[in-house]
Amino acid sequence: MSGQNIAQSLGGKSILLVVGGGVAAYKSLDLVRRLRERGARVRVVMTKAAKEFVTPLAFTSLSNEKVHDDLFSATDEQAMGHIQLSRDADLIVVAPATAHLLARAAQGLCDDLAATLLLATDKRALYAPAMNLRMWLAPATRRNVALLKQDGALFVGPEDGAMACGEYGPGRMSEPLEIVAAIEAALKGETRRPLQGAAARGPLSGRHVVVTSGPTHEAIDPVRYIANRSSGKQGHAVAAAAAAAGGRVTLVSGPVTLADPAGCDVVRVESACEMFAAVERAMPADVFIGAAAVADWRVEAAADKIKKEGAGAPAFALVENPDILAAVSHAADRPRVVVGFAAETRDVIAHAKEKLIRKGCDLIVANDVSEGSGVFGGDANEAHFVSPAGVESWPRMSKEAVAAQLVARLADILNKSEAGE
Ligand code: C5P
Repeated sequence: MSGQNIAQSLGGKSILLVVGGGVAAYKSLDLVRRLRERGARVRVVMTKAAKEFVTPLAFTSLSNEKVHDDLFSATDEQAMGHIQLSRDADLIVVAPATAHLLARAAQGLCDDLAATLLLATDKRALYAPAMNLRMWLAPATRRNVALLKQDGALFVGPEDGAMACGEYGPGRMSEPLEIVAAIEAALKGETRRPLQGAAARGPLSGRHVVVTSGPTHEAIDPVRYIANRSSGKQGHAVAAAAAAAGGRVTLVSGPVTLADPAGCDVVRVESACEMFAAVERAMPADVFIGAAAVADWRVEAAADKIKKEGAGAPAFALVENPDILAAVSHAADRPRVVVGFAAETRDVIAHAKEKLIRKGCDLIVANDVSEGSGVFGGDANEAHFVSPAGVESWPRMSKEAVAAQLVARLADILNKSEAGE
């Protein structure tokens, strides 16, 4: 690929490009090239009509990725559902956005993969319209564009110019480099689709909440690891509750068997070091909640599987893992509220009080995980909220209910700290 001297302005970004059926689809081939030159990953979805203008193979070659076009593909649904495809992207770009695609997006129709992605996504969409000027100026299109803008969609173009049909006026798709500039500008702002309804007005709306959840796996060799019994249920419930309260939630999750909670950006990690790096990347945040059961130690993993034959059992030197909670708590860009969890088998409150000070956090959610408590992997929790103000003990309740109590408490702390109390 050419373009070694081009700044990697889109390095690490992932763009989902939806190609509609217009003659301007050929320009989207160049758009893919321009985006990749700038370091972006580009995944392409084509409508049926788009394939009449350009072949999927051309987009596959330029994007170096499989082109998606089938809403009912069994293989794709297993590997990556359409929801995941749209969530994994930083931005959805629709180019060319035909009158038909704009109409379907404005109405929330989902009769093919492209339209379904536009409805299912939690990210903003940037539309680059291309159509005959009469179609662009038609009242129906005007209404559809207004609706989409009202819902938070972004637009680039169309430009005035000579149309393929011989007329002159607005309707030409913007040039690839103009679309690139609009993408760069969009990525500097809020890339999530604005929420409507209750969540938009929720007590955590406008707040960024980072949650860790689940266990970590510390590799011993390529096939073995050290783990713990955390299921991630409590951490995932906290992330879901924060998102339902309108927060922008980044959930950094160790290996769990749970589904991703709705409305959260999920970063999957294996080890404590990976979790720490992902948390640092997710910062800054208003709230940090360390609900993961992070392994305290790791071993220096062997490159090859350790064989049984030889001089008896191997000895492992343990290395201390970073304490993510303490590091976040003491960081220069410390979130306004830092919450830790304490799973203990005895002296639950005493340990939590000590942890509150040692880790420098504002609140510890402590619970008894001794044998028989049923907390590890179970659906209920008996929590104590330990803060400098004192200890509040909650009766046994579901992990979702503990999460809801915690979120209500966070909103309260944030409001009080803003009011200067
Ligand atoms: O240190 P300890 O495991 O007793 O404290 C538990 C709390 O600290 C939890 O909130 C856990 O997520 C967090 N923790 C962490 N990084 C570690 C160890 C624990 O963030 N390495």
